[in-house]
Amino acid sequence: MNSKSEHIHPVFDQLLTREDKEKLLKQKAKVLWFTGLSGSGKSTIAKGLEKTLHEKGFLVMVLDGDNVRAGINNNLGFSDEDRKENIRRIAEVSKLFLQCGVVTICSFVSPTAEIRKMAGEIIGKEDFVEIYVNASLEECEKRDVKGLYAKARKGEIKDFTGISAPFEAPINPDLEIVTEKKTVEESVNEVVNFVLPKIKF
Ligand code: ADX
Repeated sequence: MNSKSEHIHPVFDQLLTREDKEKLLKQKAKVLWFTGLSGSGKSTIAKGLEKTLHEKGFLVMVLDGDNVRAGINNNLGFSDEDRKENIRRIAEVSKLFLQCGVVTICSFVSPTAEIRKMAGEIIGKEDFVEIYVNASLEECEKRDVKGLYAKARKGEIKDFTGISAPFEAPINPDLEIVTEKKTVEESVNEVVNFVLPKIKF
């Protein structure tokens, strides 16, 4: 609690529980947290995962860097401090979805161990599933889907992850997908198979 939340009295204990919602939805909620370089395939896998899980009858919500930064976090940039605040808010929002029984997919660069640790602590270790979407910088730069790496190389974007800002690969993720060696379908299937036992009611 900080000084601004001193006189706030949450009412969570008077509301229906997460278990009530999970029972209604016949699923167990988790936060599936994708981390990786820009262009590594996070959003593509998140999209495929959402579709597959939805078809299997799960209620899923995707929170994605570009969407969230266009809305709730549109006052944040890419300094260390802003990235931290970006991830803090996303983790808090994910926690609300978790409380509602929803399988929540987060797709954010989340570049440092410190930032991911914070997200895990806010969400709660047992509900935080860290999935490392691994593609080398060379491969991401070659793909350069959004043209951002070229701009970052020219110095037109500062603090760009992998070029002028750090990316610390997770040391012990729950799952690692090396997207260079797989088709999108194979990557999605791998995540689906890993995740299903965790979210089945
Ligand atoms: S995070 O570092 O705070 O987790 P987030 O996932 O929200 O980043 O946003 C990353 C997306 O913003 C990238 O996929 C890319 O499209 C865009 N972007 C714009 N500027 C930068 C930058 N300086 N570093 C990384 N990504 C950037």
